[in-house]
Amino acid sequence: MTQPVGIGMIGYAFMGKSHSLGYRDVAAIAPPEVPRPRLVAIYGRDAARLEEARERYGWERATTDWHSIVEDPAVTLVDNAGPNSLHVEPTIAAARAGKHVYCEKPLGPTAADAFRLWQEAEAARVRHMCAFNYRFFPALQLARTLIQSGELGAIHHVRSNFLVSSALDTQRRRGWRDDAAAAGAGALGDLGSHHIDAARFLLGSDPVRASGLTRVAVAQDSAGQAIETDDLFAAILEFDNGAVGVLEASRVAGGHLVTSRIEVDGSKGSLQFSMQALNELRVAGPDRAFRTIPVIRAEDPYQPNWFPAGHPLGWVDTFSHEAMHILGAVAGLHAVAPIGATFRDGYYCAEVVEAILDSSRRRAAVDIAYRNLEAQS
Ligand SMILES: NC(=O)c1ccc[n+]([C@@H]2O[C@H](COP(=O)([O-])OP(=O)(O)OC[C@H]3O[C@@H](n4cnc5c(N)ncnc54)[C@H](O)[C@@H]3O)[C@@H](O)[C@H]2O)c1
Repeated sequence: MTQPVGIGMIGYAFMGKSHSLGYRDVAAIAPPEVPRPRLVAIYGRDAARLEEARERYGWERATTDWHSIVEDPAVTLVDNAGPNSLHVEPTIAAARAGKHVYCEKPLGPTAADAFRLWQEAEAARVRHMCAFNYRFFPALQLARTLIQSGELGAIHHVRSNFLVSSALDTQRRRGWRDDAAAAGAGALGDLGSHHIDAARFLLGSDPVRASGLTRVAVAQDSAGQAIETDDLFAAILEFDNGAVGVLEASRVAGGHLVTSRIEVDGSKGSLQFSMQALNELRVAGPDRAFRTIPVIRAEDPYQPNWFPAGHPLGWVDTFSHEAMHILGAVAGLHAVAPIGATFRDGYYCAEVVEAILDSSRRRAAVDIAYRNLEAQS
């Protein structure tokens, strides 16, 4: 058994809980060569709520000063599960202090922020992973394998929708997601970024042109404060392999709790994934007859880590797979890519988000240009 890896975490709310649960499971599911996490310190602003989270999730200490996490010699990996604007400064400080970095999506409020994060993590020669947890759904890993082995032929379409109704709450109060400077984008950055990254992951190809439309559907919260970020977006993306993407997301889709669907069509077949049936992948070949593969067979990703074949997994388990992956990468057992998203992937996604915003503003299609690190040094 290797030495435990000390973790320092920024944020204790929705993702703070999800990541904490992910670490909790590593001891139960990871092979012995993967280091166990030591939950050293957790950061938040509200001392009372933070202390409750610390105790509940089993962190050793709580702090209302994130610098103390970055400076702690017992911390080897800084996990940033805080709101988007808080991704930038602490993650850069962590990388500069030689800590490995694992940061929630979107990597930063703007593409420039995301590029800086990638640049700094590379310069510091630390491991970096952006927490696009869709990559850790076993069904999407199987989908990627099928696409990249040529089973679907030449890929023509990727299509997705991510629909929720959270912004229709009549008691809604403006939060960081509604603040353009803090969030960057609304439904597009929060929900759409998952599907943009998933499309890149599945196709192994990058969007090069975007036509987008974003809309603020509910302009004020229940107290009359302005909502600045988009409630919905629709986009057409042209990928460098010739595929066409049609993506949409909404937080004002009245009848939806959380609906998240991704479809890919190629010259020889098609596949469909829905988060509501996350243990299944629907696949059709040239016979044009969809069949459902239960992705809980002994040969499917992660199933043997958990239970005998046939026992379904859940959404929260993606965080356990993700925790196991970053800890393995920190120990040098494998690289973060191509299964995990690196900060490069986080930056590429941020450029696509920004291109969609730009296209919507200009009412015109825009080309997407990606910066690379070599050109900067
Ligand atoms: N991977 C996923 O499936 C997934 C799901 C949800 C959110 N996310 C991402 O995770 C991150 C955190 O989102 P969440 O849903 O956990 O957040 P949340 O809205 O549940 O909680 C945010 C917390 O941060 C606090 N906060 C706000 N501004 C702050 C600041 N400047 N400094 C310190 N604290 C501040 C708030 O008071 C709140 O306690 C975001 O980047 C989000 O995009 C990822």
